[in-house]
Amino acid sequence: MSSTYVVALQVVLSCICLVLANSVDFHYPAVFNFGDSNSDTGELTAAKGFKLAPPYGQNYFKTSSGRFCDGRLIVDFLMDAMHLPFLNAYLDSVGLPNFHQGCNFAAAGSTILPANAASISPFGFGVQVSQFQLFKARVLEFLAGKKFHKYVPAEEYFQKGLYMFDIGQNDIGGAFYSKDLDQILSLIPTILLEFENGIKRLYDSGARNFWIHNTGPLGCLAQYVATLGKDTTKLGEQGCLRAHNQAAKAFNLQLQEFCTKLQGQYLDVNVTYVDIFTIKYDLIANSSKHGFEQPIMACCGYGGPPLNCDSRISCGLTKILNGTTIAAKGCNDSSVYVSWDGTHYTESANQYVASQILTGNYSNTHL
Ligand SMILES: *[C@@H]1O[C@H](CO)[C@@H](O)[C@H](O)[C@H]1NC(C)=O
Ligand SMILES: *[C@@H]1O[C@H](CO)[C@@H](O)[C@H](O)[C@H]1NC(C)=O
Ligand SMILES: *[C@@H]1O[C@H](CO)[C@@H](O)[C@H](O)[C@H]1NC(C)=O
Ligand SMILES: *[C@@H]1O[C@H](CO)[C@@H](O)[C@H](O)[C@H]1NC(C)=O
Ligand SMILES: *[C@@H]1O[C@H](CO)[C@@H](O)[C@H](O)[C@H]1NC(C)=O
Repeated sequence: MSSTYVVALQVVLSCICLVLANSVDFHYPAVFNFGDSNSDTGELTAAKGFKLAPPYGQNYFKTSSGRFCDGRLIVDFLMDAMHLPFLNAYLDSVGLPNFHQGCNFAAAGSTILPANAASISPFGFGVQVSQFQLFKARVLEFLAGKKFHKYVPAEEYFQKGLYMFDIGQNDIGGAFYSKDLDQILSLIPTILLEFENGIKRLYDSGARNFWIHNTGPLGCLAQYVATLGKDTTKLGEQGCLRAHNQAAKAFNLQLQEFCTKLQGQYLDVNVTYVDIFTIKYDLIANSSKHGFEQPIMACCGYGGPPLNCDSRISCGLTKILNGTTIAAKGCNDSSVYVSWDGTHYTESANQYVASQILTGNYSNTHL
């Protein structure tokens, strides 16, 4: 072989490696997901027995499907990329919930810290982990009894499967109603210790592949800007609440340190840390470059520009305020909005975020 040919071959090979390193190549037989509304596929609505009103779900499912969105969530697009079906919520009890390729324990409103009487979701992260453990134990019983094997994961999927996490937004965002920035910053290690406890329980239950999303720029959510941003000295770049984003960044830094520690502690795990914050903040700051027209204003809400968000009436509802009937309706074209309802992203924003995750450019993987 001539030496020029060898050099050329090496160039070709190294290019192939670079392409592979830069795009996520998923091969997992099942996914077990934990989190809040960012990845809830019907858990909270099943638990509490309610249905999200239209226009929730107007775009893809044509029914709310229990997702706090007009359509699909980031997790749905990631399942697509893995050629796996959408995840059923753990508490789905009607229809034919199929858990063969995974199960979703995420519930809207959930926090990492344990829930209290005022929590929207009773399923803090620790409870979600316990639900998983019960799920696994029952699956193993079924498999031993040769029952339902088409509907539950095969035993080896628990070790080979991907464990995904997107939780923490409600711990940070919710804390701002009763605490100041310094108090929240000092609470972060406690939040992450609780997260670590849950991850270790999952490891002890056989989980080996961890895929962890950090938290987004929650200071840019119209829900928070509409209430706390009335004091405009609190607003910074892009019209986002500075302290909220600062707390989110501090949380993310410590979450990333935890991921590095976890990877170092166990030789037999794969940990992927995904920088959702950077993807979402770039989407907001450079929205027009990415094909969006409204980076902050909610598509579905009440009040009109600049935020179209009013804490007294949420998306899809009609109410009488001061004797006048008002309705929080959807916008005409949700695809140009980043924010669906002031708290959650639109399907089109979720699709953009997922496409960026899939480039691999925002993950820190130790395979
Ligand atoms: C980690 O990921 C690599 C590549 O996907 C895989 O070959 C390996 O088995 C994984 N390790 C564990 C412990 O699952
Ligand atoms: C906006 O886009 C420019 C150009 O690509 C980039 O340099 C900048 O970092 C982006 N802004 C944010 C906040 O990501
Ligand atoms: C209702 O009345 C209160 C007090 O008069 C006022 O502050 C508020 O803006 C009114 N709400 C609406 C929707 O007009
Ligand atoms: C939505 O579209 C209708 C019909 O084209 C138009 O009358 C209305 O003003 C639009 N609403 C908004 C908020 O753009
Ligand atoms: C990853 O980021 C690099 C540098 O910003 C960029 O050139 C490349 O196109 C990105 N890769 C993908 C798949 O988007």
